[in-house]
Amino acid sequence: MAEAVNGAGKGPSANGFGTLPAATSREAAPATFLGRGRKAQVVTFGCQMNERDSETMRGLLTRMGYALTDETGEADLILFNTCSVRENPERKVYGRVGLLRELKARKPWLKIGICGCMPQQRAEQRRIEETLPHVDLVFGTMNLHRLPELLQRVEETGERVIEVWHEEGDVVEGLPVQRLNGFKAFVTIIYGCNEHCTYCIVPTTRGRERSRRPEAILDEIQTLADQGYREVTLLGQTADAYGRDLGDVDLAGLLYQVNRIRGIRRIRFTTSHPKHVTPRLIRALAENEKVCEHLHLPVQAGSNRTLKRMGRHYTREGYLELVERIRRGVPGIALTTDLIVGFPGETEEDFQETLSLVEEVRFDGAFTFIYSPRIGTAATRFPAEQWVPAEVAKDRIYRLIDLQNRISLEKNRELVGQELEVLVEGASEKEPGKLTGRTRSNRIVVFEGDASLVGRLVRVRVTGAQTFTLEGEPVRRGLATAAV
Ligand code: SAH
Ligand code: SF4
Ligand code: F3S
Repeated sequence: MAEAVNGAGKGPSANGFGTLPAATSREAAPATFLGRGRKAQVVTFGCQMNERDSETMRGLLTRMGYALTDETGEADLILFNTCSVRENPERKVYGRVGLLRELKARKPWLKIGICGCMPQQRAEQRRIEETLPHVDLVFGTMNLHRLPELLQRVEETGERVIEVWHEEGDVVEGLPVQRLNGFKAFVTIIYGCNEHCTYCIVPTTRGRERSRRPEAILDEIQTLADQGYREVTLLGQTADAYGRDLGDVDLAGLLYQVNRIRGIRRIRFTTSHPKHVTPRLIRALAENEKVCEHLHLPVQAGSNRTLKRMGRHYTREGYLELVERIRRGVPGIALTTDLIVGFPGETEEDFQETLSLVEEVRFDGAFTFIYSPRIGTAATRFPAEQWVPAEVAKDRIYRLIDLQNRISLEKNRELVGQELEVLVEGASEKEPGKLTGRTRSNRIVVFEGDASLVGRLVRVRVTGAQTFTLEGEPVRRGLATAAV
């Protein structure tokens, strides 16, 4: 497949290392056959954007002739696609890559690469260079399409290659992709983030918003439908900001168009920033039958003081009012959220407001995080006396998780007896012999069924509820499981 670059590329700011010539264009590298007879492993940390990027890397590697493997021991090339959103995923990368020093000593031809969000931070890039000398290749989120060329340089020069661009170019279309799943797919619709949440590193690692042209997105989804894909998840750090930089399209408009693609049965999108949820988007949720009744709407905190200091640009009251409008517009919609505790300056009273907001909204689920300072973000410059001690933050997150778990369980129990549409995902890991799938509201259901149902939509009656999963039984029509 030929690669195309939309419009003229802006000049990259390449970081040379050793004798490397600086890259001069944003054009994708020509395919090579470097990988013939070699195996490559791609290890992914972080969000769905990273998972989707890893699928592109697998596509590029496959086109170069590499065979893909999940076994580190048999790989000739290992790429770590990294995440910087909190300290923990970064620590894991240093740990895992550090351990490979020994393997590389035994297997000198092994090549190791670090890419994704970590190298986009200059401090982290330096730390990688200094503390992980056995790493051969370092590149950023904006250099993904240059993987073949960079690998070729590693092989040709035998030297370490580092290329991290910090200036967003145009969106590169037409890259090959090797997807992990055969019936549900991630489709990136917008790269980057223009928000300035004071705790968040993502705008640094991903750059400014860049929306893909709707034709490119619709083309990709049409191809997916032709290949038998049933579900698409439209991705962006702020998916609901889609099109702001293009001017002539928005997420609502895109949903109407995707809804018309035959073969696609379910449409999801993530993540949404509350400030971009328009009445038009709510209407699009209600009017497009393929768009699933689930919205991930991170609130982060319940106190106006904290929200203001986080730079979120909405108030508690505004968020609650939005939730009410969404629920009125799309009855029965599932709402999930992200919450941070221990943000600098968060008092017990502030935290109580997060608890009370969670009680009031009754989210269907929530991801909860302890604030993790990220170098270069505004919140790290708040006075040291405002920092919340680790034990206090831990105590808060436990209380918050307890509350949310109780609510999740209660909400799941309300579903017992209902008949729901489930997209069958595969064999249950916890309950051998059973299948697992997801409802339109994104709940996991475990039920008995034949493996031939994987990738299909079936009807399941909910028979039991736990905090994170539902149990069910397939609804039978005649002898067969009812397909949808
Ligand atoms: N773009 C998305 C999510 C970005 S990262 C959005 O705005 O909704 C996913 C979640 O990680 C965020 O919603 C936030 O809850 C959390 N997060 C981001 N930075 C963090 C930090 N420094 N410490 C702890 N949690 C953080
Ligand atoms: Fe980070 Fe805020 Fe952008 Fe989400 S909206 S990626 S939390 S800066
Ligand atoms: Fe992490 Fe980068 Fe995603 S920081 S959350 S992998 S955009």
